Amino acid sequence: MSILVTGGAGFIGSHTCVELINSGYEPIIIDNLCNSKSESIKRIEEITGKRIKFYECDIRDRAGLDRVFAENCIEAVIHFAGLKCVPESISEPLKYYDNNIGGTVTLCEAMKAAGCKKIVFSSSATVYGSENPSPLREDMPEGKTTNPYGTTKLYIEKVLKDLYASDNSWSVCLLRYFNPIGAHKSGKIGEDPKGIPNNLVPYVSQVAVGKLDHLNVCGNDYPTPDGTGVRDYIHVVDLALGHIKAVEKVLKESGCSTYNLGTGKGYSVLDVVKAFEKASGREVKYVIAPRRPGDIATCYSDPSKAKAELGWEAVRGIEEMCEDSWRWQSQNPNGY
Ligand code: NAD
Ligand code: UD1
Repeated sequence: MSILVTGGAGFIGSHTCVELINSGYEPIIIDNLCNSKSESIKRIEEITGKRIKFYECDIRDRAGLDRVFAENCIEAVIHFAGLKCVPESISEPLKYYDNNIGGTVTLCEAMKAAGCKKIVFSSSATVYGSENPSPLREDMPEGKTTNPYGTTKLYIEKVLKDLYASDNSWSVCLLRYFNPIGAHKSGKIGEDPKGIPNNLVPYVSQVAVGKLDHLNVCGNDYPTPDGTGVRDYIHVVDLALGHIKAVEKVLKESGCSTYNLGTGKGYSVLDVVKAFEKASGREVKYVIAPRRPGDIATCYSDPSKAKAELGWEAVRGIEEMCEDSWRWQSQNPNGY
């Protein structure tokens, strides 16, 4: 059964393609490679021993999408394609609104025209904003987003909810990710950020491997046990497996549902530094720096809805996440 994976060459998409193949599905990838390399697709093929159909195509290219739907019998779409750099979204908001929201609208139009009305979407915990207390639950109101990237996720959720409200034959699953880290056990695929990483674990990995001198710990005066920010880190393979459950759900029934994909556990920046040092056997030098604008003290999920309704829960712990991130980083010090 063919599943279209937009953004399938990227970090989460590539891991999800491996798990789709392991579960007997045939992923078809669309990616414009603006934040990835086709080498990741070769690596998925190496891991799984299966060939993957790949279209180098932008999700805003309606004619390109129509061709992909015409040439394949696509049962459902997992929609990862999007830009995700928070500081860039602040300096170039139009690029984010066009790519993320415009791209999703074009994708949905092409899906509707092709009669494929089943979609799983990559949303983010960022839609809870800063006012809701953790653990965050799906029935809490969405918060005020603090940057255009977050606003695109909130609006895309609204677009997809409105689409379902207008036509109940759609099947929509909105997945709110917490902080995906880690990599496939083989060390062949992982997160490959361009330039200096913004996110914690890619930064820590590059300090450990010697590419960066030290980590700036952004604030140690938060109301948390050690004063540093607390997040719900989730292994990317657990996250990928959550998508398999979500695909099964959209294939089975129409509806519109929202799920947190997190572990329910919070770790501080210094907990992550310690776990990474243990996993890598390397020192991770750090200095305490000012808070990063827009950051909140604590963010972790209540993952019980996904367990109850999808039969999914994250099982990989922080040690395994750091070991697998380190294996990918040390085997591929310069990425793909
Ligand atoms: P990624 O950048 O590694 O993957 C996204 C992929 O989409 C890339 O391969 C990129 O080339 C492709 N892409 C972007 N715009 C496109 C377009 N217009 N047409 C075709 N392809 C396009 O990012 P990721 O970490 O794998 O994230 C996947 C999705 O999950 C994104 O939507 C992201 O916003 C969301 N998300 C990620 C995180 C995270 O921490 N990584 C957290 C919450 C949500
Ligand atoms: C960030 C984004 C979020 C996005 C997610 C995935 C912001 C405000 N939020 O989440 O919208 O969905 O990435 O792309 O950018 N930290 C340091 N030093 C660093 C980097 C991070 O101390 O060099 C700290 C942060 O202050 C935070 C924690 O590490 O407490 C995690 O940061 P990060 O990995 O960037 O994720 P989020 O901020 O949770």
